[in-house]
Amino acid sequence: MTTRALHVASELYPLLKTGGLADVVGALPPALIERGADVRALLPGFPPVVSGLADLRPVANLGSRFGAAPVTLELGTLAATGLQVYVIRADELYTRHGNPYLDDDHVPYGDNAQRFALLGWTAAQLAQHADPSWAPQIVHAHDWHAGLAPAYLKAAERERGKPVARSIFTVHNLAYQGIFPAQQFGQLGLPADFFNMHGVEFYGQLSFLKAGLYYADRITTVSPTYAREIQTLAQGGGLDALLRERAHDLSGILNGVDYSIWCPANDAALPARYTSARLAGKRACKEALQKRFGIAQKSDALLFGVVSRLTEQKGLDLLLAALPEIIKRGGQLVVLGTGDPALENGLLRVAQAHPDAVAVERGFDEALAHEIVAGSDVIAVPSRFEPCGLTQLYALAYGSLPLVHCVGGLADTVVDASLENLADDLATGFVFVHFTPDALQGAIRRAFALHARRTEWKATQQRAMRQDFGWGASAEQYLALYRGLV
Ligand code: ADP
Ligand code: GLC
Repeated sequence: MTTRALHVASELYPLLKTGGLADVVGALPPALIERGADVRALLPGFPPVVSGLADLRPVANLGSRFGAAPVTLELGTLAATGLQVYVIRADELYTRHGNPYLDDDHVPYGDNAQRFALLGWTAAQLAQHADPSWAPQIVHAHDWHAGLAPAYLKAAERERGKPVARSIFTVHNLAYQGIFPAQQFGQLGLPADFFNMHGVEFYGQLSFLKAGLYYADRITTVSPTYAREIQTLAQGGGLDALLRERAHDLSGILNGVDYSIWCPANDAALPARYTSARLAGKRACKEALQKRFGIAQKSDALLFGVVSRLTEQKGLDLLLAALPEIIKRGGQLVVLGTGDPALENGLLRVAQAHPDAVAVERGFDEALAHEIVAGSDVIAVPSRFEPCGLTQLYALAYGSLPLVHCVGGLADTVVDASLENLADDLATGFVFVHFTPDALQGAIRRAFALHARRTEWKATQQRAMRQDFGWGASAEQYLALYRGLV
């Protein structure tokens, strides 16, 4: 029997992307459809979402909701994959330029509770046949933005005296919790007793993330190691007790790579293409990248690349501390990122001091991200914590050896180039265990040491490129979860 599942999220590549969430929500539904599931997506009607879908047509009038009127539900097709996407049109809430969550001063919009409550509420309406021609059996909600969907489903179930749809909540990042003042609970239209320690209440406030974790039938997160980490006091963000209580409903399913978008053999964003057997194109990509960033055109300089949201999570402050080691050894660093202004400025200052070796580009640029992943020798992901991480997976596919901190999905996907791992043909990158400048410097020195042994470096690159992190295995695991629920 075909399972009907609705993916509920705030981002979906190529419509709208601020991070890896969009890549996953763009790639997982097609992978599930390929394996026989009947999957659609639901997104808020942010301007790029509305303009990115050619054939949007109305499906239902949802009336006046959460301070917006009229609210309508529309359905369109994503040309790239053929995915059917429901869009919530509520101009007062969603028609804003720039970042979907933050205003121009990087401050969360004051009405985010209403903006994302509407997302969860509409998911529950779809499960109750808001679209007469299609209703999901599974509502698969992603991150806090969709966290209220399982709560609205439970409320509907209580009202009707029977289940409406089953729900899965996937945690992409426990650090973003969607916390709002308790007074805002009244606007949500949830039963009063849901504002409870056993419910959406979190230390006196309202938490969308906790709603998802508490009310969903199953919880997943994006790597097996992160699934364990978030059950600890140190990394549970105040929710570890709840996660331990729900341990039997919680699993870690590794994200995959969409190789139709991230493949050096046919990547249109690159100045030259290459494969593991023919790496000449990669050298051309490196040359072009050095030129693009205006750093010294040295083919043998070990080039480190970073493509990242600039937040505390990503550990780039540690990379800054270890940068003298890279420069001293004749290495180079290029960074593409946007986010925290203090981090942006810190990076820009180093670039000004070492124009031949370090260059930084602020902003979000999909094509440049591909150029950096292809043209670098090493892609650095020194994150403090990392639920899964996609950039290190893209780096592997492009033969750019990942340098990572041993946490979360980074620990699950990269094997350190220690002598024994090299001897056993296992190494794919550089892994440091302790989050200290010394440990990072050690990994940097291993990268330089391996780079000096050209044959071994190439063998490691080729091994990295042969790793299969496609969506196949992960999609099968989600399907098994779906089948268990319906
Ligand atoms: P996270 O979701 O925590 O940001 P991931 O590694 O899972 O981390 O995914 C990051 C995604 O966002 C990757 O596709 C990466 O290429 C992309 N990305 C991050 N910053 C930028 C940027 N400044 N420009 C273009 N793409 C970026
Ligand atoms: C989050 C995490 C990242 C993960 C991505 C997609 O943004 O920070 O580790 O890869 O979601 O699941």
